[in-house]
Amino acid sequence: MSEPKWRVDNPSGSRRVVVTKELPGDHWLEVLAAADCRTEICTETRVLDGAEIAAAIGTRCDGAIGQLTETWGEKLFGALKAAGAKVYSNYAVGHNNVDVSAATSHGIPVGNTPGVLTETTAEMAVALTFAAARRVAEGDRLMRAGRFRGWLPTLLLGELLWRNTVGIVGAGRIGTAYARMMIEGHKMNVIYYDVRQSEELEAFVTAYGRFLQTRGEEPVSCRRADSVEELLPQADVVSLHPVLDESTRHLIDAERLALMKENAILVNASRGPVIDEAALVAHCQTHPDFRAGLDVFEDEPAMKPGMAELDNVVVVPHLGSATSWTRRGMASLAACNVAGILMGYPLWGNDDVRPFLEGTPPKAAPSIVNAADLGLATGQA
Ligand code: DGY
Repeated sequence: MSEPKWRVDNPSGSRRVVVTKELPGDHWLEVLAAADCRTEICTETRVLDGAEIAAAIGTRCDGAIGQLTETWGEKLFGALKAAGAKVYSNYAVGHNNVDVSAATSHGIPVGNTPGVLTETTAEMAVALTFAAARRVAEGDRLMRAGRFRGWLPTLLLGELLWRNTVGIVGAGRIGTAYARMMIEGHKMNVIYYDVRQSEELEAFVTAYGRFLQTRGEEPVSCRRADSVEELLPQADVVSLHPVLDESTRHLIDAERLALMKENAILVNASRGPVIDEAALVAHCQTHPDFRAGLDVFEDEPAMKPGMAELDNVVVVPHLGSATSWTRRGMASLAACNVAGILMGYPLWGNDDVRPFLEGTPPKAAPSIVNAADLGLATGQA
């Protein structure tokens, strides 16, 4: 493998920040330059390995921004600490690729980028839901292959979702945004499973149901299931939005797939290992009316053998957050995490991160996941 290539922004900056990929937009570079950072950016598109990242950190480095495709564990946080670094930010809201306790043990704050991916990722889950339900990719393939011979009463029949039931596993920010889109757009009833009750989602459904009634329409309902097992047989669509940890790895396995309706739709825009992908391939092979829409994969970027041949699965390459606005916003937030900690600013402490996305950002670090463990203080947001 050839040596990775790097470019430098603001070469005269006195603080050295390493960024393992080109990020969209310029605002993030302006933020780092304003914090007197010399920013070294890897221009390769391939994933850097740990040794390459450690070499880039070198003997003097003040901060780093890394990717969800890289493993940031004891070795890299040890290297950061030894190089004098004060902060790391993931260029992602998810941080299952980061050993946060290793970072904490080295006293290194770990940033992430919540607040700009919510609707974007939920929209991708909606896109996959309908692509699967209405067989969009199959239709596209048929057209391009010149196999469309004219309208037929039975050509590529899919599923109507209107007024059916959507199951949400993980009712956090993205799961709730997805649920709202399916409720408001398609009047779906909701059943959700989450370790915590989502008062926000329940209150929304109650209020929206009342609104529908004022218009003489049937209300919609929302119910929290006691278990994933209770949810699966009742839902026409199941969309997965949990964080990936040991409790959610292979949350959907062969046994749970068997509980789902024969013609259910399973959507995953969270993390690949939440589904036992080999089991999903086997299930889709034997259940032709079952459909799946997948943004993420267990062994990303690879798919499990057999997946590519399945007509009842729609796949996209981890595009959940892939809009220009979101990816530029993620860059601004990651840069503000690094700049904020290097400048000694407090935490933002507010879910609304829009003030960080353009112009001069607030004097705060927008999101540090191990702030409590490191005793970092929150400022006046
Ligand atoms: C994240 O930020 O965790 C997303 O998966 C990126 O698309």
